[in-house]
Amino acid sequence: MAQPLRIGIAGLGNVGASVFQLLSEHGDMLLERTGREVRITAVSARSKLKNRNIDISKVKWHDNPVDVANDPEVDVVVELMGGSSGPALDLVKKALDLGKPVVTANKALLASRGAEVLDLLKKSKGSVSFEAAVAGGIPVIKGLREGLAANRIKAVYGILNGTCNFILSEMSHTGAAFATVLKEAQEKGYAESDPSFDIDGVDAAHKLSILSGLAFGCVPDVKHIEIKGIRGITPLDIAFASDLGFRIKLLGIARQAEGGIEQSVEPCLVPSDSPIAAVEGALNAVYIDGDYVGKVLLMGYGAGGNPTASAVVSDIVDVARGRALPLMGIASERVSSLKAANILARKGSYYIRLMVLDQPGVIADISAILRDHKVSLESVLQRGRDPHQAVPVILTTHETTEESIRRVAEQISKLKSVTEPPYLMRIEEFNG
Ligand SMILES: NC(=O)c1ccc[n+]([C@@H]2O[C@H](COP(=O)([O-])OP(=O)(O)OC[C@H]3O[C@@H](n4cnc5c(N)ncnc54)[C@H](OP(=O)(O)O)[C@@H]3O)[C@@H](O)[C@H]2O)c1
Repeated sequence: MAQPLRIGIAGLGNVGASVFQLLSEHGDMLLERTGREVRITAVSARSKLKNRNIDISKVKWHDNPVDVANDPEVDVVVELMGGSSGPALDLVKKALDLGKPVVTANKALLASRGAEVLDLLKKSKGSVSFEAAVAGGIPVIKGLREGLAANRIKAVYGILNGTCNFILSEMSHTGAAFATVLKEAQEKGYAESDPSFDIDGVDAAHKLSILSGLAFGCVPDVKHIEIKGIRGITPLDIAFASDLGFRIKLLGIARQAEGGIEQSVEPCLVPSDSPIAAVEGALNAVYIDGDYVGKVLLMGYGAGGNPTASAVVSDIVDVARGRALPLMGIASERVSSLKAANILARKGSYYIRLMVLDQPGVIADISAILRDHKVSLESVLQRGRDPHQAVPVILTTHETTEESIRRVAEQISKLKSVTEPPYLMRIEEFNG
């Protein structure tokens, strides 16, 4: 029988405590599957006395999380504290310095310090596994890096943030305003008390940068991602989108375009009868489009202690089986910087919400601007008439470029009869 694999866990919060519990409950099964006992030998968190519903009395406690890596009785360092700097980074550095494998769920660290982690890996005998960092319990990292390793990836896209998906689903079912649903999500524990990281699209962008890195063999880097969150979506948009046969979803999209990789996180209209439109509540879904396999859809819980622990332990199982895979699917020395496409050259069709005073000639003025920028209309919807206040007018366009649509929006916002800046969303049908 092989030696036990000794695990040190730094961070015993939502995910860490679930990992601890899973390893304790499934010990026999993991022994059968890996041929080794997987044994927790050390832990660390901020407070030793906090009640976590796990029994840590038989494992060593370290006040300083970096000592989890220094501990000679720890073979694998499991980093579950979070944060792109501070103790999480120090711990990963120390573990790699000592040549120990690291398992982490830390998307912020990989998304903002991917280049640094790759550099550390070049000099280390250790490895970094991160299945839990993207889409929680969904095995999208292994799907992309291993299951689809034979394919050139054309695109990877999907619903990468459960909080936003919950909010948009609730707005769609109840017709309630964004602020009302956000408050409800906070009360139910689906949204943080400071929700900006989720609702402004930053969390989804972190995950997308990691998926892009794997799909295209490049360093994850959030700064090349065009990010727009969901704060601006109104019940009007939800209702008009539905009338037009669409649902609104916050999508992370990375695709190979002519000039490089296009990456964005933004609310988009998707056809109501598409599988992605049916992904409701806190679920996540990721499509991977490969040249030989076609489109593969993976769906499940993208967050929560247990689903995320499932992903963390799958990485520990890999280590126990003696499998270490390169961070971005190719040797660290060969990982290149991402070549970003010019977002203004991006093509697509668009939804435009306007608030206009119901005066003669308004639509003619708007049509003239569209004509001048060679943007052709697919549909125009107007509801209600009120000579004293602005009414919504919804336009959808045929295919145009991002540059043209932004110019159109800028020109339209200068019209006296238009009372607020146009609100734009892409219509994504993913036919290509
Ligand atoms: N929650 C999810 O659904 C989810 C999903 C996917 C990925 N992740 C990622 O998983 C990681 C952990 O998330 P989480 O939700 O479990 O976070 P959490 O509940 O806030 O837990 C963080 C843990 O780290 C400990 N910690 C924080 N700073 C520390 C320090 N300076 N020294 C020692 N310990 C410290 C905390 O100790 P105390 O308990 O003593 O305060 C706590 O146990 C993050 O990278 C997150 O992005 C989470």
